[in-house]
Amino acid sequence: MNDATLTLPAPAKLNRLLHIVGRRPDGYHELQTLFQFLDHGDTLGISCREDGEVHLTPEILGVPMDENLIVRAARLLQAENDCRLGADIHLEKRLPLGGGLGGGSSDAATTLLGLNALWGLGLPLDRLAEIGLCLGADVPVFVRGHAAWGEGIGERLTQVDLDTPWFVVIHPGVMVSTPAVFGAEELTRNTPPITMARALQGGASSWRNDCEATVKVLYPPVAEVIDWLSARAPAMLTGTGACVFARLANESDADQLLAEISGRWQAFKARGLNRSPLHDVLGR
Ligand code: C5P
Repeated sequence: MNDATLTLPAPAKLNRLLHIVGRRPDGYHELQTLFQFLDHGDTLGISCREDGEVHLTPEILGVPMDENLIVRAARLLQAENDCRLGADIHLEKRLPLGGGLGGGSSDAATTLLGLNALWGLGLPLDRLAEIGLCLGADVPVFVRGHAAWGEGIGERLTQVDLDTPWFVVIHPGVMVSTPAVFGAEELTRNTPPITMARALQGGASSWRNDCEATVKVLYPPVAEVIDWLSARAPAMLTGTGACVFARLANESDADQLLAEISGRWQAFKARGLNRSPLHDVLGR
């Protein structure tokens, strides 16, 4: 029996490009995206329990424990494998809820990989990614742990290597509802797909987020940040927001921008990563 605590990162992601292709009969949207990780995120401390219970601390305000993706991920893994072991999970939350940084999805993926190791289940990443998809469209990329071109609802993934600049990420102070953004009628739909080769060839300066215009109308504080940041560096929305990121040439430019933001909004700097730090820790 292993009573050690595994301390694992749950990194943020950025959508460096987000193109909405169409809407499926079940309401989900077909999209094309470039996912990249950041060296900034949540941290999970996970240890094994003999009694099968799953305990998460601390409680996250506004998220019922049973609906938390961490608890749901642990229960799903238990049920799928008829596993009698449980877990104590401590979450150090740094990523905002409704921020477009994939915090909840990344926490879920870290739980799946961490418990797979702690419980000795030996499931391959393919299977863990399938289980992850039941929890959310963004979970599989965190399970696979490499920057990717995503299609479908974001679950059909092709590994890619992107440039790895410094980013400054600003939280405009509002929580965006993903279903509200995807539900907006004016959102680009049924537009022609682009090829991965063309997207990569175009490079970072051609990458856009199709949700941006809709989010700017629905959430004026996000529009204010996009306009402010775009005047200083190439900037765009991640996911359906609320966070907005700027691409900087180097770390000192990032520091300078952070100094200018100081006090106005919550913001952080981070480096883009092609490999998830979670997979470095687990050696996968
Ligand atoms: O998969 P996830 O739980 O993150 O999605 C939250 C909501 O966002 C879905 O219920 C759906 O309304 C919308 N969504 C979508 N198309 C996607 C991903 C999410 O319409 N590709």
